[in-house]
Amino acid sequence: MTGSIKLFSGRANLALAQEIADRLGIGLCGVDIIDFPNENIFVRLHQSVRGQDAYIIQPTYPQVNRSIMELLIMIDTLKRASAGQITVVVPYYAYGRTDKKDQPRVPITARLVADMITTAGADRVVTIDLHAGQIQGFFNIPADELTAFHLLCDYLKEKDLSNAVISTADLGFAKKARNYAEALDLPLTFVEKRRSGRKGSTTESLTVIGDVEDKDCIIVEDEIATGGTVVSAADILKQHGARSVYIAFTHPVLAGQATERLAEAGVTELITTNTIQIPPEKHIPNLTVLSVAGLLSEVIRRIHYGISVGELFGE
Ligand code: R5P
Repeated sequence: MTGSIKLFSGRANLALAQEIADRLGIGLCGVDIIDFPNENIFVRLHQSVRGQDAYIIQPTYPQVNRSIMELLIMIDTLKRASAGQITVVVPYYAYGRTDKKDQPRVPITARLVADMITTAGADRVVTIDLHAGQIQGFFNIPADELTAFHLLCDYLKEKDLSNAVISTADLGFAKKARNYAEALDLPLTFVEKRRSGRKGSTTESLTVIGDVEDKDCIIVEDEIATGGTVVSAADILKQHGARSVYIAFTHPVLAGQATERLAEAGVTELITTNTIQIPPEKHIPNLTVLSVAGLLSEVIRRIHYGISVGELFGE
């Protein structure tokens, strides 16, 4: 791609976009994003992008629906301004959990969002730790799914792991949890949700599979939304004798009362990333936030110069 990188940011995570721009040694391109009194969003670019390689940084959280609409309008603006190539960088892809028709008469919203991004005019999507990798296939344009796995592992490797085990509270995450266990050379344990009783009067209980007695348990997850899953997992691990609990996760959705619940959960440390901007009131003392700006800036540089992205991960 000729010309320079034109980096734009929506309003969902301006701090991350600025950090990416700083690492690339460029400025963020000027753009006005205005909410009209009738809630319509209006976008205006400050400079020409004709024929240029444009990137938009916009996780689709918080304010999921507004963030998505804002992203779509930004893509449309760049397309109509004749940008040469438009890459959307969506560090957190909302609606990822609605990715299949697992009951009658329900939508597949993850696909709908992919269709809207494509129809708006994006040429390429870059994202991090999708809820399900198959969502990549919902796009008919190139979709690079990156991962915070290496970032989280490198941080955890700095700790004394001599007595640690990896735990997962979500059997759907078991394969990824195994990757953590292998990378850190630790045993893998599970918190399993069991349903018992007859239809209409079933009860749910948690059981632990594996030895966690006197262990430092590291729960790994893709996201924390309400905190319900990890807080009950931390609880049952401690009931089974865990001496400490850490939680490492990529996306800090931290919806509703999640922060309060996590603050009271007796967890030693929560380790996450800045795919989603965490407002100051949600920065609890035991929360460590690792930045994905290094990863994203390097990937943007590689896309711009046509260099392999897979090589970054030794692929
Ligand atoms: C579920 O499939 C995910 O991997 C997480 O377990 C889930 O998003 C966490 O949600 P919450 O924090 O609301 O329990």
